[in-house]
Amino acid sequence: MTIYDKIKRTLQELGVSDAQGVEALFAELRKTAEQERAELVSRGAPDQPQRERFCKALRDRWLARKGGFLSQVDQNWLKPAGKELKPAVGRQFNELRRSSSGLEFEKLIEAMPLEPEVAKQMELPLASDSSRAAPRDLTLPGLHRPLGSIHPVTRMQREIEEIFLRLGFRIESGPEIESTYYNFDALNIPESHPSRDDWDTLYIDAKTVLRTHTSPVQIRAMEKYGAPLYIIIPGKCYRHDNPDSTHSPMFHQIEGLAIDEDITFADLKGTLDFFAKMLFGEKVRTRFQPSFFPFTEPSGEVAVSCFVCDGQGCRVCKESGWIELMGCGMVHPQVLRNGGIDPDKYSGWAFGLGVDRFAMVRHDINDIQLFFQGDVRFLEQF
Ligand code: PHE
Repeated sequence: MTIYDKIKRTLQELGVSDAQGVEALFAELRKTAEQERAELVSRGAPDQPQRERFCKALRDRWLARKGGFLSQVDQNWLKPAGKELKPAVGRQFNELRRSSSGLEFEKLIEAMPLEPEVAKQMELPLASDSSRAAPRDLTLPGLHRPLGSIHPVTRMQREIEEIFLRLGFRIESGPEIESTYYNFDALNIPESHPSRDDWDTLYIDAKTVLRTHTSPVQIRAMEKYGAPLYIIIPGKCYRHDNPDSTHSPMFHQIEGLAIDEDITFADLKGTLDFFAKMLFGEKVRTRFQPSFFPFTEPSGEVAVSCFVCDGQGCRVCKESGWIELMGCGMVHPQVLRNGGIDPDKYSGWAFGLGVDRFAMVRHDINDIQLFFQGDVRFLEQF
């Protein structure tokens, strides 16, 4: 019979008839309490609230007025005890009660170790640590839970998304493992184009690549929604680049696409100028220079006057006074056609920008690798 069963019975039922028997019973009870206590301590708890919950549970189990083990002892052993045994039972019971704080339920909280990882983080003793019994210095600062924060690239992405969402654009996404059709062919990028070279692109097989830009989602969205269409497409892209301070084989882009009737280059310029001012401040100016992309015609590169030096030349703009922002252009009629949209009825503009680069410029970070190394000393600055 366990001690838990024994406290449900009277001494008479247990056949205990002398002081020695009483002492033995109480000794067993005390040992059980110690065991329960030790077990809990060795189990540990992940945090302070949990430790307190554990202790309260143990305290209730033993000390609750109604149904607690001690109250059962009172009811079943002490109260019904015969005249001869009562003094002995009473003495033992009082002693146990006095030492039930002697079971030190309160101190248990202090003694209970945190779970290993948590304890390690907080430099607190582990379950196996013998120092656990040492008194705590209550003047030490409280427990610190390390808090995470939004990654600077994600933060940049959200800030850019926010501006376009307010302009009525929707967010669209597409697969990172993409067919060569969507990544290249549908975008008017011919077989002979250098971007299709093994040197530039990570191939899964002859017809499947890790997308090299977010532009394939232009076609996917045209097929899915038709026109009119106002979307931005944030996401990861991949290129066959060795990592250095400005290159990463994985990086982030945001694509913009607007298709409607009567969309002109003026809409593109106006929207991107507004965007630049929202992001970098009212006083910046934008500069459009001609460029080439197979999927836009005409194509351009957009730069913004340096928001740090106002175009005077500084470290951030590499003394040029301008910061390159993105590639853009009017969606090529063939690309519209590939997406199932009639280029005689609709026209559109598109842009693609590098989110990581934006975040680097914004925070004056000179090494893109810092974003992907997971070094808390870097990340906790944001
Ligand atoms: N996809 C192009 C790139 O990755 C950027 C771009 C997107 C240019 C849309 C024009 C229009 O470089």
